Amino acid sequence: MTIKDPMFELSRGAALVTGAAGGIGREIALGLARRGPGVVCIDRAGSDTRSLVEQIRREGGAAIACDADVTDEEAMAAAVAEGERSFGAIAYAVNAAGINIAAEALEITQAQWSQVVAVNMTGILTSCQAQARAMLRHGGGSIVNIASMSASIINHKQDQVAYYASKAGVKHMTKSLAAEWAERGIRVNCISPGYTITPMLKASEETLAGFRRMTPMGRLAEASEMVGPTVFLLSQASSYVTGHDLKIDGGYTAW
Ligand SMILES: NC(=O)c1ccc[n+]([C@@H]2O[C@H](COP(=O)([O-])OP(=O)(O)OC[C@H]3O[C@@H](n4cnc5c(N)ncnc54)[C@H](O)[C@@H]3O)[C@@H](O)[C@H]2O)c1
Repeated sequence: MTIKDPMFELSRGAALVTGAAGGIGREIALGLARRGPGVVCIDRAGSDTRSLVEQIRREGGAAIACDADVTDEEAMAAAVAEGERSFGAIAYAVNAAGINIAAEALEITQAQWSQVVAVNMTGILTSCQAQARAMLRHGGGSIVNIASMSASIINHKQDQVAYYASKAGVKHMTKSLAAEWAERGIRVNCISPGYTITPMLKASEETLAGFRRMTPMGRLAEASEMVGPTVFLLSQASSYVTGHDLKIDGGYTAW
């Protein structure tokens, strides 16, 4: 006889993942689908969420693709409604959509600043609002936002003020939403990846070698290593955890 422990299971209705065509979002969408819920794979128009949906279905899971810009309230509400229609109550959401514009503080234009803040901060708020409205209709849920270790530190020799400010905003917004929604049955946490091998990590081999040297574990993260901590924060295993920022950085911020 095997002992069954539902603690880490994601057994309720539907999950939404934004930025699902990206490196981290894709792995997380796959990881959630492998645990049961139907997954709404959301990304901006023109992104490849279709191949992800095909992969999930090939593996026996359930998923749909949905084009939506995370800054667009109507599009996010429509994505949520599509998820409810397809898979039932939205119980889980992961917000991985994000961008970086590397521009130093004396050079960055207001347009560049606004673009980063729009996607990384306004996009997270808009996503969380749409998700929470749906979760409140069905007794609550759990949301994981993707911040970054750059929410807490400045990366060595990288001038990208808008990214740092926006990610610190995600971390603090997560705490604020967690406090507001705790009594209504919605937990909100964030994960903060360190250097992770995805299309966003554009750097020379020499630079990457430097990142490895600055990381106690001596290597970069695989995007798939974001799945376990996310499942923990979505599942009943973290039922008393809210407003938390879970760093997944190979020890980078320990030094
Ligand atoms: N890769 C890293 O080293 C790293 C480290 C720390 C944090 N992060 C964060 O993890 C998250 C995922 O990053 P990634 O590395 O997978 O990058 P990625 O570029 O591979 O994926 C980002 C995804 O977000 C989508 N996106 C961008 N703007 C959007 C919008 N307006 N509406 C909907 N979708 C939009 C993109 O199309 C893309 O698919 C981001 O928030 C990023 O800041 C990444």
